[in-house]
Amino acid sequence: MKVMVIGSGGREHVISWALAKSSKVKEVICVPGNGGTGVEEKCRNIVPSLCEYLKDVKEEDSYCEIAKHEGCDLVVVGPEDPLALGVSDTLWKNNIPVVGPKKEAANLEASKDFAKEFMVQYGVACAESKTFTDALEAKDYIKEKGAPIVVKADGLAAGKGVVVAATIEDAIKAVDDFMVSKNLGNAGTKIVIEEYLQGTEISILSAVSVSPDTIQNGTACILPFVPARDHKRLLDGAKGPNTGGMGAIAPLDDVNKKQLDEFQKNILEPTLKGLIDRKMDYRGFIFFGIMLTSKGPKLLEYNVRLGDPETQAVLPLMDFDFSDLCKSIIDGTLNTFEPKWKKGYVCAPVVVSGGYPLKYKRGVPISLPKDTKNEVKIFIAGASVDRRGQYNGLITSGGRVLAVSAFGSSAKKAREAAYDVVSQVSFDGAFYRKDIGLPGAAESGQL
Ligand code: AMP
Ligand code: GLY
Repeated sequence: MKVMVIGSGGREHVISWALAKSSKVKEVICVPGNGGTGVEEKCRNIVPSLCEYLKDVKEEDSYCEIAKHEGCDLVVVGPEDPLALGVSDTLWKNNIPVVGPKKEAANLEASKDFAKEFMVQYGVACAESKTFTDALEAKDYIKEKGAPIVVKADGLAAGKGVVVAATIEDAIKAVDDFMVSKNLGNAGTKIVIEEYLQGTEISILSAVSVSPDTIQNGTACILPFVPARDHKRLLDGAKGPNTGGMGAIAPLDDVNKKQLDEFQKNILEPTLKGLIDRKMDYRGFIFFGIMLTSKGPKLLEYNVRLGDPETQAVLPLMDFDFSDLCKSIIDGTLNTFEPKWKKGYVCAPVVVSGGYPLKYKRGVPISLPKDTKNEVKIFIAGASVDRRGQYNGLITSGGRVLAVSAFGSSAKKAREAAYDVVSQVSFDGAFYRKDIGLPGAAESGQL
C-alpha cells in the first residue's frame, strides 16, 4: 500500500514513521513533510510548490492531484487546516480513501460556536457558555458573570484564540482585541464566552469511524487511546506564556477508572450519538481536550485530528500496526479493532528555538546525537534539510524544532531516557522544559 500523509509538523513525522514501520506499507509520501520525514526509511517528501503539474491548482485540490499522480491508496491528514478546507471531501469524491473528517464535521474544531452548540444539543459535559456577535452584549454578559471567565474566538486561530481572563478588565480587553481590533481577522467576528473551569487537563486522542455504512449497520464507533498530557506553558511548573506544546507524556497515572468511565459516558458516548444523529461523515481521529474538575471530566474542546505533541507520546506506545488501524477506520471495522498498548510510558519533551513563542531565528544548524537506543526516537518538527548545502544536515525552520520520545517501564525511566537524549541535542538558542511528565507540571486552568 502507498500512503500519503499531509502536514509538516512533529505529529506528521510520527504518523509517517508509524505507517512506514508496517510491512503492508510500501511507501509514504509526505506532503510537504519536514527534515525528519525526508530521511525516514520508506518516506519521501513532496513539496507542492516545487511540482510543475500543480502550477495552476488551488491548495485544497493539490493534495488530491498528488495522490492521483503518485497512485496513493490512502491519505492521512495531520493538521486541521486542510480538513476545514474540505480536502477529505475532494479526496472521497475522487475515490481516494482518507483518514480525516469531511468539512462539515471539521467544524467541530473550526468553529467554537458550532462545537458548543453540538455539545449542548447532545448533552456532552462541558462549561456553560454563550455566543456573541455584538461586542457590547458580550461585555455586559462578562460584567454579569464576573471573573475568572474565558473568552474564545470562534474560528481557527492557531492557538491564539483563547483568553483565560483573571479579571473583568482582561476579559473585556479580549473582546476588544477579537471583535473591535480584529487581531485574529475573521476568526474573532463571533466569540464564545465560557465559564472558567478549574482542574487538571488531559488529552484523549481517539479513532472515529462514522460513515453512511457504519451508521446504517450499527458499527459506528469512537475508540479512545491511552490518556495523554500536553504541557502548553513555556516554563517549568506550568508558568510563562502559552505555546503550541512543550512536551507530552502518556499514559497518565493521575487519571482513575471512575474519571475514564465518566469520560466515556458523559463525553464520548454523547459525541458519538451526535455524529450519528447528524449523519456526519467522520472517518479519522478526534482529540478530546478535557478538564478533570471536581464535578467530573468536562470537555474544553474537540480537535478533529491527533494532538501535537501528544501523538509523539501516544503512538510510540502502540503494539499494533498503525496502517491496520487506519484501514479499520475506513472499512468500518474499527468496532472490532483491539488496540494493544505497550506496558510502560513515553515521555516526549520538545526542544524549541530560543525566543519562541515570540521571535526566533531560523536556519540554525542542529547537532543530534549519533546513536540513540531502540526505545528512543527523535521526531522532527520545525527543522529542514539545509538545501543550500551550507551545513551538512538539519537546520531549524520553526519554533518547535523536535521532540525526543523515550519509552520506559516507569514514567521516571521514560523521563530519564528522554532527557538523556535531549541534553545531547544542541543548536544555538535551544531551550526545553525540564519537568515534562512530572506530576507538578500539569496544567490546571491557565489563570
Ligand atoms: P481550547 O482551545 O478551547 O482548548 O483552549 C485552550 C486552552 O485554554 C485549554 O487547553 C485550557 O488550558 C484553557 N481553557 C479553555 N477553556 C477553558 C475553560 N472553560 N476554563 C479554563 N481553562 C480553559
Ligand atoms: N496539543 C494540543 C493540540 O494539538 O492542539
